[in-house]
Amino acid sequence: MHLQQNISLKPYNTFGIDVPAEYFVELDDINDLAEITALPEKKHVLGGGSNILLTHPVTGVVMHNKLKGITVERENKDHIWLNVQAGEIWHDLVLYAINKGLGGIENLALIPGTVGASPMQNIGAYGVEAKETIESVTFWYWKEKTFLTYSNRECAFGYRDSIFKRQLKDKAFITSVVYKLSKKPTYNTSYGAIQEELENMGVVELSAKAIAYAVMHIRTSKLPDPKQIGNAGSFFKNPTITKAQFAQLRSLYDAVPSFPVNDLLVKVPAAWLIERCGWKGYRKGDTGVHAKQALVLVNYAHAKGKDIWNLSSEIVKSVKEKFNIELEREVQVW
Ligand code: EPU
Repeated sequence: MHLQQNISLKPYNTFGIDVPAEYFVELDDINDLAEITALPEKKHVLGGGSNILLTHPVTGVVMHNKLKGITVERENKDHIWLNVQAGEIWHDLVLYAINKGLGGIENLALIPGTVGASPMQNIGAYGVEAKETIESVTFWYWKEKTFLTYSNRECAFGYRDSIFKRQLKDKAFITSVVYKLSKKPTYNTSYGAIQEELENMGVVELSAKAIAYAVMHIRTSKLPDPKQIGNAGSFFKNPTITKAQFAQLRSLYDAVPSFPVNDLLVKVPAAWLIERCGWKGYRKGDTGVHAKQALVLVNYAHAKGKDIWNLSSEIVKSVKEKFNIELEREVQVW
């Protein structure tokens, strides 16, 4: 185990925020976990750093998950169960699956971050969520110094949510995830933009690969590349409101888009609310709201985490004032 001191976290978070970590360790050997557990300092787990806002120097040990490997756990005529180490890059797993014609995660192409973040956040895009393919999650449970495996149900998945963000917050280090992928997939092209893109691409026969390429094209046209402009994807969750609230909103703004949640609730796009408050394309110093997607806050160069936090607070306030809707941050704030 190589414990480093006073390391800048700038290369390890897609917002590109420059704060130091008191201690930093790259975990590429699962056997080092016991040794790290014995350190007295507080532990912080960093995956791809693509869903995090660093607002101050981090005291304690920042662990960068570098556990790698994809193995076939079992298969039958319809499905294959892949056991994937948590430090694998998520998009590499998507490429692996589509190149083998395996279906289930093609709509989640190009989501930044690691495999370990997929259950944590229950990542989702274009009508699909990671929970639909996650069979189980194995993690190191700090308190008991042991590995535990939770079934899909035990992970208590919700919209961008799981037990790892709640009861097990800071208590579990995800080491591997088993995904159940399909050899005879049925595809989800319900999201309008995908259908449009497939038509533009001239696709006649659907495949996991064609859908992933369509998604990659949509994402690159709308979302900023963190290599060029620092960002963490959607900064806020899409808020869920009651149908009664929605009816009221609709009476004022008849163009407000919505997605049904159940018989009582609907989700409205936070991006739409933020744009209506005039924030889209806003810039102050190096902090801003992306010009093509109002849900994405950006760091143009040297923004501080606090500047981005303050901008997000102003946005929350104005959406509350204009629509009486409380936005909730999706990113993890350290
Ligand atoms: N819209 C606006 N202004 C904008 C952008 C969008 O008014 O600047 C409206 C449009 O009406 C559009 C609707 O919002 O029809 C939905 O927009 P979009 O399809 O871009 O999706 P989103 O709801 O803004 C969510 C996820 C994204 C995911 C896309 C596609 C959340 C918090 N975000 O965004 O996930 O890629 O759907 O499925 O649920 C992420 O989590 O980091 C992320 C990028």
